[in-house]
Amino acid sequence: MKYSLLVAFLIVSLTGFAQNKVINPGAVWPDDKGNHIQAHGGGIIKIKDTYYWYGEERAKGLDPNYRYVSCYSSTDLMNWKFRGDVVKMSDPENLGEGWILERPKVYYNKPTKKYVMYFHLDTKNYQYARVGIAVSDKPDGNYTFVKSFRPLGHQSRDIGQFIDDDGTAYLVFEDRELGFHIVKLANDYLSVEKEMSLVRMPLEGGAIVHYKGLYYSIGSALTGWDPNPNKYATAKSLEGPWSEFKDIAPPDTKTYHSQSTMMLKVVGTKSTTVIFMADQWKPDAQWDSRYLWMPLEIGDGKLWLNQPKPWSIDVKTGEHKFIKQ
Ligand code: GAL
Repeated sequence: MKYSLLVAFLIVSLTGFAQNKVINPGAVWPDDKGNHIQAHGGGIIKIKDTYYWYGEERAKGLDPNYRYVSCYSSTDLMNWKFRGDVVKMSDPENLGEGWILERPKVYYNKPTKKYVMYFHLDTKNYQYARVGIAVSDKPDGNYTFVKSFRPLGHQSRDIGQFIDDDGTAYLVFEDRELGFHIVKLANDYLSVEKEMSLVRMPLEGGAIVHYKGLYYSIGSALTGWDPNPNKYATAKSLEGPWSEFKDIAPPDTKTYHSQSTMMLKVVGTKSTTVIFMADQWKPDAQWDSRYLWMPLEIGDGKLWLNQPKPWSIDVKTGEHKFIKQ
């Protein structure tokens, strides 16, 4: 047996599952137990050296009366430990059969030491259009439902999360009547305080990153689970003005069959990598929906998503590299 094979064999036999050495966009992504990660429409926060990934838990066989949000943790962004379903919620507001909890995002509020989760809360026909909030004392739950509301009185469906370099927390939400809102959260994060921008574009899957003095925002068109060409714009301030929206990838690839959910900036000792995180939805087999994570080409007002291929990241140095195939 070759030495490398022997090492792989030993790792598998000792730990039960092999370590992930790469991120393989669009492939099954095994967690520490070997199960495909269930964190769809997700978001990530970093607490000290640990990343927490929250998302929609859509595994097969869940009780249809509940909605579930899962939590995973990682120190290298490639290997994720399942920390459990941190939300297992029954219909909180009499929304009826088929009620919806989507796109959970967690913020850590320093003054109150609470973990505050925002999510899209809706009825089956998507007419309730609100954000819901649940809180916890620990990153890995459990989270208790607090309330729902329409941010600044507006319809809110897809939400996105952005925490600026100075720690200020923002929510992005899609409002079918007006467009793409970027709003600042109140000090305790339990409400929304102020509108930063209203971009008059119908955009879902909202994601923002602050990179070398510019804000870059990404959003997708409104085509439900079907992918479309996601677009980006830039601004010097979150208050705008925002540039024209441009394609982030060749439009015929429909964002390589994905929809944005977040951009994650990994700042290391040598470099900074901005990761495009997206979902490849499978509406008829949601448990098998995949993740497309790729380092972006970004800078000087330009942003581009290259053809997905396996890559790895070193979170200490911030460097990423593509795997020769
Ligand atoms: C997408 C949205 C998803 C989900 C889906 C339902 O556009 O991003 O979060 O709501 O529509 O059709």
